[in-house]
Amino acid sequence: MARQDDPRTTDFLVLGSGIAGLAFALEAARHGRVLIVTKRAPEDGSTAWAQGGIAAVVGPDDSFEEHVKDTLEAGAGLCNPDTVRFVVERGPAAIEFLVRSGAEFAHLQGKAAGYDLGREGGHHRRRVLHAGDITGAEISRALIARARATRNITFLADHHAVDLITARRLGHAQDACLGAYILQTATGTVLTVLARRAVVLATGGAGKTYLYTTNPDTNSGDGMAMAYRAGAPVADMEFMQFHPTCLYHPEAKSFLISEALRGEGGTLRRRDGTAFMEGQHPLASLAPRDIVARAIDAELKRTGDDFVTLDMTHKSRAFLRKRFPNIFDRCLQYGIDMARTPIPVVPAAHYTCGGVVTDRSGRTSIPRLYAVGEVACTGLHGANRLASNSLLEGVVFGRAAAADAGALAPREVPGVPPWNPGAAVPQDEGVVVTQNWDEIRRLMWNFVGIVRSDKRLTRALRRLMLLQQEIQEYYWAFHVTRDLVELRNLVVVADLIVRSAATRRESRGLHFNLDVPDRDETGWGKRDTVLLRGREGPLTRVRCGEALPERLG
Ligand code: SIN
Repeated sequence: MARQDDPRTTDFLVLGSGIAGLAFALEAARHGRVLIVTKRAPEDGSTAWAQGGIAAVVGPDDSFEEHVKDTLEAGAGLCNPDTVRFVVERGPAAIEFLVRSGAEFAHLQGKAAGYDLGREGGHHRRRVLHAGDITGAEISRALIARARATRNITFLADHHAVDLITARRLGHAQDACLGAYILQTATGTVLTVLARRAVVLATGGAGKTYLYTTNPDTNSGDGMAMAYRAGAPVADMEFMQFHPTCLYHPEAKSFLISEALRGEGGTLRRRDGTAFMEGQHPLASLAPRDIVARAIDAELKRTGDDFVTLDMTHKSRAFLRKRFPNIFDRCLQYGIDMARTPIPVVPAAHYTCGGVVTDRSGRTSIPRLYAVGEVACTGLHGANRLASNSLLEGVVFGRAAAADAGALAPREVPGVPPWNPGAAVPQDEGVVVTQNWDEIRRLMWNFVGIVRSDKRLTRALRRLMLLQQEIQEYYWAFHVTRDLVELRNLVVVADLIVRSAATRRESRGLHFNLDVPDRDETGWGKRDTVLLRGREGPLTRVRCGEALPERLG
């Protein structure tokens, strides 16, 4: 039996089992052994929760130009146009990869008639491939099955990365990522896992920093926090996307009402039945998410109502049942027959547009450390992600990173010390963790939500400073557990979001500050908000999607 201090070695260590991590693993397995570490079961991440679908140019009346244009428009001037083109042009190949892997997308009457394409906010064409309203679950099922059948891939479920192991932390002048310390959640043992070629962050986003979210419990910003602690720059964290339509019901937790409903003509209405998006944007209820979420927020504040409604009663029950079986059944479970009654909805935190800065191969600033999927900031989303571009980004960057990392020569990784628990003892008051967790999420919702102000951001920063201190002390004093590791990451990411929001002196896309309500086209409009640990102020020389400068700081 391996002793606790025997390091386990693989070629590629992938942290996370969503679409991006699996796409990486499936391609990298041709070059060496891949170990996928996942916090819970492989299907428990946010990929499996994606409802709407995956955007790609496959329709006869669509073009790369139009997909690029819609992405840039949603991104409110901050996307990296080269990254946008890079991703959009690889869309058809990404779909082929998924289909080859066994994913089944809905077709029009018979396969020969082509895909049944949906539409979502900000898209001027039907270009969203779907599997009813369980597209993410279908993709996740297919990729996991294929990975399980691939000889070079192993899953390590119910294990949680605590921190990255880097050469610099071990005192070497030349930095590189060597592996990670991994907590076995059932036993509390911390394993040392080394990667002979590369470590890949595919850990997803940070929706759990907010009280109300459409995300699963796993989205606690682990990869962003670990990369930041290890010295990689993190960018554009102020752009947290709030999905306009999360089901409002006392018993429904985090249940998304897909934007694809609005793509089928759904109308947002006040509780008195009047529509309110007309006149606010040419696409009305189908406007980009930042605009719709802000409009709903304004309505709720003005009327004092708890929710607005999404009206689908123009569609037949037969159509709704067939196209949105999951949403239809879930609503019915809560007593809402969506064919007869408008659905009560509210906005909720949905997608982290910012993340660890990468180039177009998924490389971070730390050699042999890659970041793919929601954890990364590639320049694709800019200040607001276009709906259904995230699954596409996951496949494209998972595969691009594998092509790059596959070419790396394997190296030996000697001299890595085992995890040192210091003088830590078993936790005595779990309530500290739950209390702090709750406090962070509530203060982020109240002070750093859809509409921000300088005063609210200052209040949030002050409280987070205290919480960080308290959590750090607790972390060093007690044995690590999954909840404690997540809490430690959550507070770092919350702090990054607030500091990024306070740094950007303009309003753009998903970031709206009452004290600086306009866009600054010449200054901030051209810059990502890039933060680096140990450095005062943002790094202005770094741009998401471009190769990173040799020396940072
Ligand atoms: C949705 O189905 O509305 C979510 C799709 C996305 O976030 O891209």
